[in-house]
Amino acid sequence: MAQKIVAGNWKMNLDLEQALQLAKSLNDKTKETEVRVILFPSALFVHAISELSNGKYEVGVQNFYCKDSGAFTGEISISQVKSVGGNIVLIGHSERREYFNESNAFLKEKVDKAIEQGMDFIFCCGENREVRLQGKEFDFVFEQLNESLFHLSADQISGGIIAYEPIWAIGTGETATSAQAEEMHAKIRHWLIEIYGEQVANSVSILYGGSCNAQNAKELFACSNIDGGLIGGAALKVEDFSSIIESF
Ligand code: PGA
Repeated sequence: MAQKIVAGNWKMNLDLEQALQLAKSLNDKTKETEVRVILFPSALFVHAISELSNGKYEVGVQNFYCKDSGAFTGEISISQVKSVGGNIVLIGHSERREYFNESNAFLKEKVDKAIEQGMDFIFCCGENREVRLQGKEFDFVFEQLNESLFHLSADQISGGIIAYEPIWAIGTGETATSAQAEEMHAKIRHWLIEIYGEQVANSVSILYGGSCNAQNAKELFACSNIDGGLIGGAALKVEDFSSIIESF
């Protein structure tokens, strides 16, 4: 069975004091749960936030570079992430694709580096509004997955995590309806079944992201192919994030 996951992507928000305060409040507020809770703070704060964890959350980074070390000014390697207590990375967030020109081919390199280093990752995909209006969202998302992820072997993808985040829903307050989200999630599951077989496909967690909040999480998470959420804005408020975790 796929793990149930709620991940908070804090993006480029909060200073150290605010980030520590949020992590502390989550420690206090989050009840013992089967749900895997993951925080993605600024990389600068990963060490401090992982030290603070009382086991209720894991910590990861929003970005890394696909080389082991060397002259890559400003970049972060996976071994550096591990050395500060990070155990998971985001790959392919639409903001990285859009503002930092991360292509499907480049993201494939990141996927391969994470696999090589035994690092868990959440692979993000999702179409923009224009693509959806043209009715091409399934082709678009399939291409993203096919060019960056579906070269993995069944063993490598087993237990992996994909996040479907329609760009038109990210940070806009316009959530995909649970029917729209479930439709895409079911497609992704179907592709996984076709390529890897049912058992492996069912071990992959497929998260929804895009204006997921305390009000709509319950309905989204009740869909049979939605295994959790990747949360942006609502992850910055302890009450909202805790209540999203409790939505399962
Ligand atoms: P949002 O962001 O919840 O603020 O829409 C989601 C994301 O970008 O991961």
